[in-house]
Amino acid sequence: MKKKILIIFGTRPEAIKMAPLINKFLGDSRFETKVCVTGQHKEMLNQVLSFFNIIPDFDLSLMKPNQNLYNLTAEVLEGLKPILESFKPDFVFVHGDTTTSMAASIAAFYAKSKVCHVEAGLRTNNLLSPFPEEMNRQVTSRIASYHFAPTSKAQQNLLKENVVKETILVTGNTVIDALLESSLKVVDLENEEIISIKKTIPFKNKIILVTGHRRENHGQGFLNICEALKKIAIQNPDVEIVYPVHLNPNVLEPVNTLLGGVKNIHLLQPLSYPTFVWLMKLSYLIITDSGGVQEEAPSLGKPVLVMRDTTERPEAVEVGTVILVGTNTKKIIQETQELLDNSVKYNSMNSLHNPYGDGKACERIIDFISNL
Ligand code: UD1
Ligand code: UDP
Repeated sequence: MKKKILIIFGTRPEAIKMAPLINKFLGDSRFETKVCVTGQHKEMLNQVLSFFNIIPDFDLSLMKPNQNLYNLTAEVLEGLKPILESFKPDFVFVHGDTTTSMAASIAAFYAKSKVCHVEAGLRTNNLLSPFPEEMNRQVTSRIASYHFAPTSKAQQNLLKENVVKETILVTGNTVIDALLESSLKVVDLENEEIISIKKTIPFKNKIILVTGHRRENHGQGFLNICEALKKIAIQNPDVEIVYPVHLNPNVLEPVNTLLGGVKNIHLLQPLSYPTFVWLMKLSYLIITDSGGVQEEAPSLGKPVLVMRDTTERPEAVEVGTVILVGTNTKKIIQETQELLDNSVKYNSMNSLHNPYGDGKACERIIDFISNL
């Protein structure tokens, strides 16, 4: 009998990181695979589904403007019940640390399916940072039967929590599978986004690419970030700050209000994944609080300033690609200026590293499941 696989996700980064796994499972006749999106994200999720040609079998379409954690959690649980009860999957795959992942794990547990956690074992061990993601991934680890850890550090974190060794597999991060697959496709990419970007941004100048969305940075954190970006732009008229702004209103509003109209700051809509990869490749420096971008940048040899006080991804800090700057205005300005002016420091941060994977994570996951 074929093993029944249900892959559940809801946000942009989960979609990017699950896409190569979905396509591999769908192409493998040993499995009956179905895809369920909660729709925690909408436009930003649809962009990814469309690039990777994924058509979900189930879509809960949950996103509401400025949604809160209570209703989202409850609606994921309720919405998954009939799907789990009718399909009866043997294995439910969830990813990482979002509310979708945590609530889907609980739902799968109630349905007595085995939970398989992709990107397992990342930890800051501070439940409030990142919030609520640290809680989400710790809860998912308690429920999961199988843990696909991207690195040996992540495996160690799970072993410290007494997770049984044989249930953990170190795979590399599936984001590198997605990145390597997409990197090839973006070499000569020309799409509407790129045509419009090329028209408005002078690429002869150094490009600083910015993204940000973390809940713990909402409010004062984003005010500090915007103040820093504005000062950097004014101090460096020959530098272009390119910022595809996350659609969360807690991000959109301060960013548009404080940074709109600055000549060398380019506020864009969220970009499709291939366009974003294309832009990362052309950037001089990346400033972000994103988890996924921290993992992709070392593979592209791009220095990253991370606007957080802690990271569950210490590997890139150790190889020297990432510096933590928090949301301290002065520190963001100072580290950025140094990387713009000091080529020795810049060159010490821009070598290629692959601490997060070799592009074969999905293959390893599927081999593991097929042997159960
Ligand atoms: C979520 C995840 C976070 C992940 C991030 C990736 C939780 C609690 N948060 O944060 O872990 O790192 O996604 O981006 O799971 N919105 C849109 N269109 C979209 C997406 C979002 O309009 O396509 C707006 C909506 O108003 C929505 C709001 O953003 O209510 C917040 O979305 P939500 O998923 O709750 O939080 P994120 O900040 O996106
Ligand atoms: N990304 C994208 N378009 C953008 C910005 C980011 O496709 O405009 C990709 C990026 O390459 C990475 C992922 O989205 O793979 C990161 O998503 P996000 O920062 O929203 O979430 P996190 O990784 O912090 O959970």
